Amino acid sequence: MPVTILGIPGSLRAASHNRQVLEVAAANAPDGVELRLFEGLGDVPHYNEDLDGDTAPSGAVALREAVAGVDAVLIATPEFNGTIPGAVKDAIDWLSRPFGQGAIRDKPVAVIGTAFGQYGGVWAQDEARKALGIAGGAVVDTVKVAVPESIVRFAEIHPADDAEVVGQVSEAVRALADAVGTSVAA
Ligand SMILES: Cc1cc2nc3c(=O)[nH]c(=O)nc-3n(C[C@H](O)[C@H](O)[C@H](O)COP(=O)(O)O)c2cc1C
Repeated sequence: MPVTILGIPGSLRAASHNRQVLEVAAANAPDGVELRLFEGLGDVPHYNEDLDGDTAPSGAVALREAVAGVDAVLIATPEFNGTIPGAVKDAIDWLSRPFGQGAIRDKPVAVIGTAFGQYGGVWAQDEARKALGIAGGAVVDTVKVAVPESIVRFAEIHPADDAEVVGQVSEAVRALADAVGTSVAA
């Protein structure tokens, strides 16, 4: 059985560089690891406890089921105004409930990404790790890939054509997959 990883792009735009980074992750997953992208972040509504009972909005259910169905999660997020995009936060909130039984609970999860700033969105990544940990995820915080100057660096090329990015992202996927083995064995 392959190790399965769900890649969640934290940006909703079609030409997202973070989506492209996850395309690199999928294309360079090692043997025995399958990484597929979650396509439904734009359909996940703002978290609303009134809507989260016996049923939940279909977009949130799709997210929960997608996460529940894999061994690990890899989020690639940009930084918006020094923190995570609202869509990423809402996704984490839906994944954190029902309290103590959310789909992210004990699931290995790592955060990488690219942003325009010179630090590549490390504030956003740290915020995502914090929220994911409080939500119950098994945050793999040794995985850190923050690619700066996204808009310029990937203006003419896809991240797949950037050898440094390919190397860093490939290593991140391998480390996340290894963490699945660790958590299974523990
Ligand atoms: C509303 C908004 C706020 C942003 N704030 C930041 C920021 O605080 N730090 C940063 O490095 N880049 C910031 N950026 C630039 C994004 O990091 C950059 O556009 C990134 O490539 C977007 O990710 P995407 O290509 O996956 O859509 C911001 C962009 C937008 C649209």
